[in-house]
Amino acid sequence: MIELAGRRLKLPVIQGGMGVGVSLSGLAGAVAACGGMGCISAAHPGYREADFQRDPQSANLRALKREIARAKEISHGMGMVAVNLMVAMRQYASLAKAAVEAGADAIISGAGLPLELPALTAGAKIALAPIVSSGRAARLILKTWDKKYGMTPDFVVIEGSGAGGHLGFKEEDLQSGTVQPLEKILPQVLEELKPYGKKYGRAIPVFVAGGGLRGADLVRFRAMGAAGVQIATRLIATLECDASQAFKDVILKAKGEDVRIIHSPVGMPGRAVETPLIRRLEAGEKIPHQWCAGCIKTCDPATTPYCITQALIHAVEGDVENGLFFCGAGVDQVTELTSVAQALEEYRLPEENAG
Ligand SMILES: Cc1cc2nc3c(=O)[nH]c(=O)nc-3n(C[C@H](O)[C@H](O)[C@H](O)COP(=O)(O)O)c2cc1C
Repeated sequence: MIELAGRRLKLPVIQGGMGVGVSLSGLAGAVAACGGMGCISAAHPGYREADFQRDPQSANLRALKREIARAKEISHGMGMVAVNLMVAMRQYASLAKAAVEAGADAIISGAGLPLELPALTAGAKIALAPIVSSGRAARLILKTWDKKYGMTPDFVVIEGSGAGGHLGFKEEDLQSGTVQPLEKILPQVLEELKPYGKKYGRAIPVFVAGGGLRGADLVRFRAMGAAGVQIATRLIATLECDASQAFKDVILKAKGEDVRIIHSPVGMPGRAVETPLIRRLEAGEKIPHQWCAGCIKTCDPATTPYCITQALIHAVEGDVENGLFFCGAGVDQVTELTSVAQALEEYRLPEENAG
């Protein structure tokens, strides 16, 4: 049991947000129902709405609110329901406000530094957490939130280099294996948090993520001062995950040698399973886009070799030929389709089993 922003998490596990459409209410609600924190991805939650291509902004706001309400229903008041917001998205501010209006318990924000997030949720009862990949990024966010808004994060997620999706590390460092491991980053972030915990009179729980962390890793990182773990890839291979069966099969079949580091139009490297789309991009092909949602701040539709939104929508819908299938470095450990409750069993702390 851990205390977090006035709530209690029976299970010290956050389900990492997965866009597009991989973590919606089905997965997030199931994780919360088990006593953990489920997380809805705010990257185009409205991709299945009839008006998505005509008016993606409205479709996304409507769908995000509906998914939060559904996840809360599924959770039966257990755990917490969070929203994952990528700083790189143009619709960031209105999605943050929609998360507040729909009563999400937390916003977890990465893919950039969420320096302005507190301004968007001022006065609202919602926990805020940045995702960082270094002590330096944590320092910058902590300093800015303290100075500008007189506040500090409710919790922090550290995403290590083994995570799936976009990665907060330099591509050359990822390729050469010279990135710092989570075991090195965690003490740095804990050190940065110390003065703010003191100033604001409360603990700031830290969750570590990346590389398919297991129950034994949870015990190990808790001994080092973390409160819990954030996991994602493993939860794709569950009955409740919102992705298509074809997406789940790509994850179940992937071996270590199938994992690739790719360039994303977001301007960050990403980790994904090698599928036909990646082979075409590696061969220098430019894949024309049919339409543009204008979603990513850093994406120039005139020059981007592919549209990441379309590629991720193809993936969640199960188009193996054209989809981009993000995965964590531990994808080869995922070999069985289970329920969320089965997948989460190993993360129960001994005191929970006893109780
Ligand atoms: C399919 C997929 C999509 C993801 N999408 C996002 C995203 O939209 N935003 C984000 O902050 N992280 C995203 N991530 C990262 C996860 O939330 C998580 O932190 C990380 O993958 C944890 O490592 P693990 O998958 O090895 O357990 C994604 C990961 C995967 C596998």
